[in-house]
Amino acid sequence: MSTSRTIRKVVFPAAGLGTRILPATTVVPKELLPILDKPIIQYGVEEALASGLNEIILVTSPGKTMLEDHFDRHPELEEILERRGKSALLDGLREVSRQMELSTVFQDEPLGLGHAVLASRELVDDEPFAVILSDDVIDADPPALRQMLAVFDDVAGPVLLVERVPRDAVHRYGIIDGASLGSDVYRVNDLVEKPSPENAPSDLAIIGRYLLTPDIYPALEETGKDAGDEIQLTDGLRRLLQTRPIHAVVLDGIRQDAGNKLGYLRAILYFARKHPDLADHLPELLRSLE
Ligand code: G1P
Repeated sequence: MSTSRTIRKVVFPAAGLGTRILPATTVVPKELLPILDKPIIQYGVEEALASGLNEIILVTSPGKTMLEDHFDRHPELEEILERRGKSALLDGLREVSRQMELSTVFQDEPLGLGHAVLASRELVDDEPFAVILSDDVIDADPPALRQMLAVFDDVAGPVLLVERVPRDAVHRYGIIDGASLGSDVYRVNDLVEKPSPENAPSDLAIIGRYLLTPDIYPALEETGKDAGDEIQLTDGLRRLLQTRPIHAVVLDGIRQDAGNKLGYLRAILYFARKHPDLADHLPELLRSLE
């Protein structure tokens, strides 16, 4: 069986239209909207790199080439920074693009998360891989993916990251029915995409991080579209569950959902409170709005 040492690839589904944050996302991909001085997706990429995974696969659409451009080298900008002696900025800029290997594949139609993962099949090939939904920005030490890799090493199979959510929020997530194995690890008995509070099997929600094995691809191929005409990753995992165990681990850390306006604002404030140059100014800034 594969171990985490063989997980090198991370798929970032990023073909969505970002309709929840229009009109900001008419031209700029939502993944490039900044949380302070860093685009949303870069938090996820840095989490992957800090967890030892450096092959980044962007699943995107032809209109979102800015995403690749962001992670490219920028010789003219680098030269200007160099001339001006801005070495800290320069190092920060170079470090991420130097460490990562980026490849891109297009999702030709927006047919859901499962469909986006299917689009990565040729690039991932026959090895286990991670999926990061960059809207879920996670602050954790060790990084969230690394927490999951520790479990993957034990169970040698798919691992989902989960968090307890209020009952009135279960309809926004994939929810697992799990049996606790102790120390925040669950064996998944069932999972359901966006249930109503009455039908939710628990309050444990999947939060945008998956470690998957390549047998998810045939499972997704066999998964039909849901009522909204989308192929759900949760439904593909449900099918996979018929042939192998799936586990979940509860996040030890803080997650922000930057995919909607209020969550995005919260993410900015959260990271501002942790920022050495901004933290001290924040209470007064908020008071001054009164
Ligand atoms: C997706 C998944 C859902 C998961 C969520 C985490 O939903 O389909 O299972 O719980 O991400 O953020 P989306 O937020 O794309 O509607």
